[in-house]
Amino acid sequence: MPLSIVILAAGQGKRMKSDLPKVLQPLAGQPMLSHVIATAKALRADAIHVVYGHGGEQVKQALASEPINWVLQAEQLGTGHAVAQAMPSIPDDHQVLILFGDVPCVRVPTLQQLVAAGAEGLGLLTVILADPSGYGRIVRDGAGSVVRIVEQKDANTKERAINEINTGLMSAPARLMRKWLAALKNDNAQGEYYLTDVVVMAGRERVRVGAVICPTEAEVLGVNDKVQLAQLEATLRAERANALMLEGVTLTDPARVDIRGQVSVGRDVYIDVNVVMIGTVELGDRVRIGPNCYLKDCRIGADTELHPNCVVDRTAVGANCSIGPFARLRPESVLHDDVHIGNFVEVKKSEIGAGSKANHLTYIGDATVGSKVNVGAGTVTVNYDGANKHRTEIGDNAFIGSGSMLVAPVKIGAGANTAAGSTITKDAPPGKLTIARAKQVTIEGWKRPEKKS
Ligand code: UD1
Ligand code: CA
Repeated sequence: MPLSIVILAAGQGKRMKSDLPKVLQPLAGQPMLSHVIATAKALRADAIHVVYGHGGEQVKQALASEPINWVLQAEQLGTGHAVAQAMPSIPDDHQVLILFGDVPCVRVPTLQQLVAAGAEGLGLLTVILADPSGYGRIVRDGAGSVVRIVEQKDANTKERAINEINTGLMSAPARLMRKWLAALKNDNAQGEYYLTDVVVMAGRERVRVGAVICPTEAEVLGVNDKVQLAQLEATLRAERANALMLEGVTLTDPARVDIRGQVSVGRDVYIDVNVVMIGTVELGDRVRIGPNCYLKDCRIGADTELHPNCVVDRTAVGANCSIGPFARLRPESVLHDDVHIGNFVEVKKSEIGAGSKANHLTYIGDATVGSKVNVGAGTVTVNYDGANKHRTEIGDNAFIGSGSMLVAPVKIGAGANTAAGSTITKDAPPGKLTIARAKQVTIEGWKRPEKKS
């Protein structure tokens, strides 16, 4: 049966105490709702409907690139009312699967079981909790069949003692769901149209109610406040760290590596503490990442070492390089093999050829640096005139003296030397020493000023 997935995301999330809508709160570097959408895609949904309300424009904008049918629920009249808003866009021959935008970690295999349970009748996803308070309780009859779900606020003492709870996720054929939703009433403690009331309707029609008991609690945990958000974040962090270790990575402390994206690794990679990896990060064989490094959308070649406290953002680093400590590689940079970038060196939108070195206190921006170049300490490519950026080109084997200011646009020829302290404003020819600084003079008879009495 074709599958229509309805994601409920209209709730305000008051307890987040945030101007950012609840479903956009970041989890592992992605809005919570993106995790749910990714899961819906993995289930090969034929259509994904997101029911939105609070912060609607912001939510739509943040997920503009996703193939979503946006359904407005102008007033939040309950979960049943929310699903009903999506039903006009779902054909009768589809199966409906209902997910929550604030239950972001549910797994595909669990949902496949739920979809199987909902193919003929009504499928419910439940879970056993030590402390069920706050949730809808699953009421079963003597034979063990689910007869209804009672919300905490409507439950009596005996029902409140039930520790099998409703995760809220369910599935049923669209034609049945449509009929049931149309018959919902709001005569309950909260005056809401409860989605959960479809269970009783299914029972009356002798439609099979199949409960899938979720094996793990973390999967179906909803996020209502920042404490729960941090708990889920910790769960995901641990999972991702485990996955890396199972791929052979050595982590000095799995609790202190943060992966917020896709990390692919070669063999024998070593990652020290407090490393944050965001977006798509590729680490080659034997790469070593020192403590406190931040890597975002980057590729690090085999045998390269990042010493402590480096920032690498949208940069491709070749093999066998040595980076840092305290280096900053900024977007659109390419470092070829055997490059050394040392402490307090910033590289931006530049290409650095194989075997070149900039070991201390340097800014290389908008530059093309050849191979085997030595850039002396304190060199600056002066790339900005206050209005426009200009490029610096440095040929192979050039030697840039310490403290050189290379005022772009400027070219330093292959094998050229610039003298320390030079302010180079014109091209320096290849193979020659160019000096651009005032001559040193010594003032005869000069006296130090003396303190007045
Ligand atoms: C719901 C279930 C409860 C279950 C619990 C699991 C009902 C009546 N109750 O309770 O049995 O144990 O989830 O967390 O279904 N939403 C809308 N529009 C609305 C109301 C809610 O889009 O009008 C969305 C919310 O944004 C949220 C989800 O539906 O993503 C669940 O809503 P919430 O208010 O958290 O439901 P509960 O009352 O906690
Ligand atoms: Ca809830």
